[in-house]
Amino acid sequence: MKALIASGGRGTRLRPITHTQNKHLIPIANKPILYYAIEAAVEAGIREVGIVHTADSLEVPDYVGDGSKWGIKITYIPQDKPGGLAQVVQLAEQFVQRDDFVFYLGDNMVVGGLKRFVDDFQRSKCNCLLTLARVKDPERFGVPEIRDGKIVGVEEKPKVPKSRYAVAGIYVYDHHIFDAVRSLKPSARGELEISDAHQYLIDKGFLVSYAEITGWWKDTGKPVDLLEANRLVLDNITPHVDGDVDMLSDIAGKVVIEKGARIINSKIRGPAIIGKECVIENSYIGPFTSIGDRTEVRNSEVEYSIVLRNCKILSVDIRIEGSILGNDVEIVEAGGKPRVHRFMIGDQSRVEVA
Ligand code: G1P
Repeated sequence: MKALIASGGRGTRLRPITHTQNKHLIPIANKPILYYAIEAAVEAGIREVGIVHTADSLEVPDYVGDGSKWGIKITYIPQDKPGGLAQVVQLAEQFVQRDDFVFYLGDNMVVGGLKRFVDDFQRSKCNCLLTLARVKDPERFGVPEIRDGKIVGVEEKPKVPKSRYAVAGIYVYDHHIFDAVRSLKPSARGELEISDAHQYLIDKGFLVSYAEITGWWKDTGKPVDLLEANRLVLDNITPHVDGDVDMLSDIAGKVVIEKGARIINSKIRGPAIIGKECVIENSYIGPFTSIGDRTEVRNSEVEYSIVLRNCKILSVDIRIEGSILGNDVEIVEAGGKPRVHRFMIGDQSRVEVA
């Protein structure tokens, strides 16, 4: 069994963060989203992982490396331009060869790992196993039609969904998927759709089974999804304090404070993670907040937010909430009279003021 992880795409809904950073490397609880996929594969006993990445950027290969930090081998497969998930599978044929494989969309996060899906696939001797999650908005996803406990059809983003399930971004295949993706024509959005490949397998009489994701699953395509994934991961975090917390500070709930971080006269209410070498002074960090390495928060309050590396949040007199700050962002007091807001904001940013 191998694993194929998709890390391409433009991440347009996560701009401006994705102007300078691949969306799969955005951290959730201070760990890149993509690492959760790799670690799930490792935990399922998989030792050969292929990662499809955008050909014009080596950001993912440079960051993730050859796999040795997990004791596995990672093969990188470049994709010239985004052409759909079925194209990602096409590109991986040489890497996968005749093996069975898990196809994992690198921006999906699931609790409970992959092993049970791999086991289900092997036990049922099917050709393709889809993971399904019950969602409120199936029209945003691939949607299965289920009759008598069997998948009889799959449609991509249907106007009128035939079930309340989304096909989640974790699939297990045997080599027949390569015949399926070879047969496809681009859809209305100009992509080779993975849902069409699934429909092909069904039409040709291959066994397409499914497993329901009963814990949580998130496709982290939008900012609110990132915050929600961050909340869910932090909820399960194992607390530990490696940094310094002074006598005037108060730490409550599940909190991780990484090495070199300094908490001075502040209140931290978990679940929360404070990255390496951060300084939190005279401040409040509320539940479900991740603060990236080397960020400074002074005289400010932050809650339910993701703050990346090297940020400065200084003397902001209103609580920052439900926010995502990229690397090297500064939110500081304007100072002087009259009281003003002063902005220096890149393309496609969004600011909400009280
Ligand atoms: C893709 C697939 C869709 C699947 C979803 C899961 O959608 O095309 O079938 O349900 O991933 O995350 P996209 O992210 O391209 O909109």
